[in-house]
Amino acid sequence: MDQNLTEQIVRLKQEKKALIIAHNYQRPEVQDIADFTGDSLELSRKAAATDAEVIVFCGVHFMAETAKILSPEKAVLLPDEEAGCPMANMITAEQLDEERAKHPGVQVVCYVNSSASVKAGSDICCTSANAVQVVEAMDGDRPILFVPDQYLGHYVMRKTGRELLLWPGYCPTHMKITVKDIDTRRALFPDARVLVHPECRPDVIDAADEALSTGGIIRYAREYQGKTLIVGTETGILHRLKKENPEVKYVPVTDKSLCPNMKKIDQGKVLLSLQEMEPRIEVPENIRQGALAAVERMLQI
Ligand code: 13P
Ligand code: SF4
Repeated sequence: MDQNLTEQIVRLKQEKKALIIAHNYQRPEVQDIADFTGDSLELSRKAAATDAEVIVFCGVHFMAETAKILSPEKAVLLPDEEAGCPMANMITAEQLDEERAKHPGVQVVCYVNSSASVKAGSDICCTSANAVQVVEAMDGDRPILFVPDQYLGHYVMRKTGRELLLWPGYCPTHMKITVKDIDTRRALFPDARVLVHPECRPDVIDAADEALSTGGIIRYAREYQGKTLIVGTETGILHRLKKENPEVKYVPVTDKSLCPNMKKIDQGKVLLSLQEMEPRIEVPENIRQGALAAVERMLQI
């Protein structure tokens, strides 16, 4: 860690009354200067609850946008505005409207990995941490359309026993994890448990012991009694796992599961964003109101 950069960030953060929040996949140097690190649900709750005037969001675009939806009076900075989520871009508001029109009476559940306008066109939002509870809370007599992640949707379908209409989106990073990777690791560490993210493909989830959000993986590791954990998600999570529970050995299912967008922010960009108060995330008020309703419904569950 660059001590000089860190000191400048800390000084400026206090001056501007800013809160730095980081997703569990961020670079170690970014996680280490954050006031709070967590999964999408935890970060949304933090963004809703803070009284800071500025939120520096170290994550990807939809996450910073969710913070702005919840806290319109605050300046929300995304230190690299190119940090997007390819899966969130796999459905547009227009496509959602067209799909909705095909299924009369449909209820739309959108994964938080979606744009503000897709959220505004949805009935309720969810994250990987609460998707099962959200779907269980829906009207049982009406169809449910789940967007954009077909694999999270598939996982929820199996957990709840409810039939869902699935949009064919996916995460390119989690798609890289295969059953063969799990088998190879299990052969090397036969006593280890295998945890994967529910964005993984169904055969990968079946081959694992648990499918959990990134926050769920961190909590699981805290209680874990074994020596080794095999982790199938974006490899940035290993930093926090090692930092919080160094007595366990963590082995990635594969080194290929790297999200280039989650790695775009570094300490230099965090400092620059605080100096210039840019790039700022803005959401048009009419879209924000609709998206807020979907996000608030989720936070009430
Ligand atoms: P979590 O909500 O589990 O942190 O996941 C976010 C994400 O983008 C997974 O790829
Ligand atoms: Fe999007 Fe996948 Fe990257 Fe998560 S890991 S931000 S879902 S591309």
